Amino acid sequence: MCGIVAYLGKKPAQPILIEGLKRLEYRGYDSAGVGLMNNGVIKITKSSGRISVLEELLEPINQAEVLGIGHTRWATHGEPNTINAHPHLDYTGKIAVVHNGIIENYSTLKTWLISEGCKFSSQTDTEVISNLIGYLYAGHNEKGTPTTGQNRFEWAVQRALNELVGTYGLAIVCADFPDMLIGAKKGSPLILGLGENEYIIASDASAIVEHTTQAIYMADNEMVICTSKGFHTKTIDNVEIRKDLKQIEFSLDAIELNGFQHYMLKEICEQPKALNMCLGGRLDHRDGRIVLGGLDKYWREITRAKRIIINACGTAWHAGLVGEFLLENLARINTETEYASEFRYRNPIIDDGTVVIAVSQSGETADTLAAVEQAKERGAIVLGIVNVVGSTIARTTDAGVYLRVGPEIGVASTKAFTAQVAVLAMLAIELGRRKHLGHDVAKFYIDELAKIPAKIEKVLTQSEQIKEIAAATCERENWLFLGRGFNYPVALEGALKLKEISYIHAEGLPAAEMKHGPIALINKGMPAVFIATKCSQYEKIIGNIEEVRARGGRTIVVATEGDENIGKYADFLITVPPAPEELQPLLTVVPLQILAYHAAVLRGHDVDKPRNLAKSVTVE
Ligand code: AGP
Ligand code: GLU
Repeated sequence: MCGIVAYLGKKPAQPILIEGLKRLEYRGYDSAGVGLMNNGVIKITKSSGRISVLEELLEPINQAEVLGIGHTRWATHGEPNTINAHPHLDYTGKIAVVHNGIIENYSTLKTWLISEGCKFSSQTDTEVISNLIGYLYAGHNEKGTPTTGQNRFEWAVQRALNELVGTYGLAIVCADFPDMLIGAKKGSPLILGLGENEYIIASDASAIVEHTTQAIYMADNEMVICTSKGFHTKTIDNVEIRKDLKQIEFSLDAIELNGFQHYMLKEICEQPKALNMCLGGRLDHRDGRIVLGGLDKYWREITRAKRIIINACGTAWHAGLVGEFLLENLARINTETEYASEFRYRNPIIDDGTVVIAVSQSGETADTLAAVEQAKERGAIVLGIVNVVGSTIARTTDAGVYLRVGPEIGVASTKAFTAQVAVLAMLAIELGRRKHLGHDVAKFYIDELAKIPAKIEKVLTQSEQIKEIAAATCERENWLFLGRGFNYPVALEGALKLKEISYIHAEGLPAAEMKHGPIALINKGMPAVFIATKCSQYEKIIGNIEEVRARGGRTIVVATEGDENIGKYADFLITVPPAPEELQPLLTVVPLQILAYHAAVLRGHDVDKPRNLAKSVTVE
């Protein structure tokens, strides 16, 4: 949920930390801070607000400060203020920690540490980590002694980690060891970048890639100790381990704005290119089949699945719901889409022939990861549909399919949604082909899928017109989004997009549900967005539009190009090219993304970093 970055090398750490934090700011941005090693003292600078506020407080760069840790926060324990900002020192001032995650037993540990004389200054759970390490480092309450080759700082960290219950991605330094940086991971992401005589530890690769593309992805219960003489990795039980070196696959320009005002707009506009990357090499038009190499070892089990459970959160859940309809329609496999946060606590029934699919852009969403672990414990085959390569969910599932759309920086998910739907469509087509769909039908959908990127290009050309619609309506505080069939999840997604970046209250519904209550909300001028493309329920949704208009609502209608009938029902009309009903969500979502974007900009909000949100919800 927040971003951590740390540096040990030959260059001044301060600018590297600040640049790294800026790359991670989308993960959390209510406060920020850095700690720099300076002649045996850890110099802490931190503040509430954005990294730009922190920058104003920093001293000039000191070439001798070559070790440091940094943090950009999304508060879970303690309000977002300067005291609660990271790094957190221990009560002796010798240990400093930056932390991503939640320490669930922090209250018990805090009470005990206070009884042992430790002083606390913040309300955070994180300060328990620094104080526990400091307490052990100071030699109190000996819980064993360092083994050979293990100095006291490393030993104190390792012992402390064994007392923590919860999740952490950590970077830790000690004033007595100005040449040592320790990282540790459990439940939150942590990557070690290996440069020329330098190390970068960070929450994700975007803070590393401009320095090196050589990386080690830490796994749970592992720690890494870096010094100018080298690094070594071990478990928190002090067992040395060897980690494979991986290549970070995306380039720096993939995370640059490239002239766009916001990442969200850039990512909306790059959907045609992103989808071509996602589909590339996977559509075999000649043989009418789909190639998803990541699933090769499991096609037999998946094809014979009696039931599929899709687990996800937020936008990924909406994509999963489209996937449910695709899998049931094309592959005729009983499928249900679960909110991971509910699934994980509901003692779910996982019987023979159940396949679980986790959908997650970041691959780090705590609830989705917990659902994956639940499903695995109960014997299911678990697949991942993930964007971030090497992310925890990608590494925890049995197999999976990467979205391959490049980093998604804007907090509001856009290109990841269309890619998730595309991957689920490919899965449904291939499973259908292997079961009963027939070569020609499979080939039809494959050919239609390949046309989608160009059709999205056409939708994007309406951005200015959609901006005018936003200008005419974005002062209204309550909206409805309505769709049927395959476009019902798109109505949910459109409502979420508007909510999360413009702070307008919007509700997505199956259009027919309106008369069961929500229609009472309709008052004069209330915006109601309808997805009314040419589909099996077209006539029905026209009826729903009329119900709203009869009560004074203003209708924004997404319709199929060339539909001569629809104009009289729309106060505002947006069109998408024709496509098979099953693939329409890939097109109908785009105008809703653009509408939400313009509404947020017109309302003066920070589109890429909306209030209270973060890009990856790695805490419960
Ligand atoms: C969507 O715009 C939001 N950023 C949020 O709902 C997001 O989709 C959700 O937190 C799931 O994230 P994930 O795909 O990284 O698991
Ligand atoms: N739990 C820590 C805090 O509230 C870290 C939060 C996070 O990971 O964003 O400061």
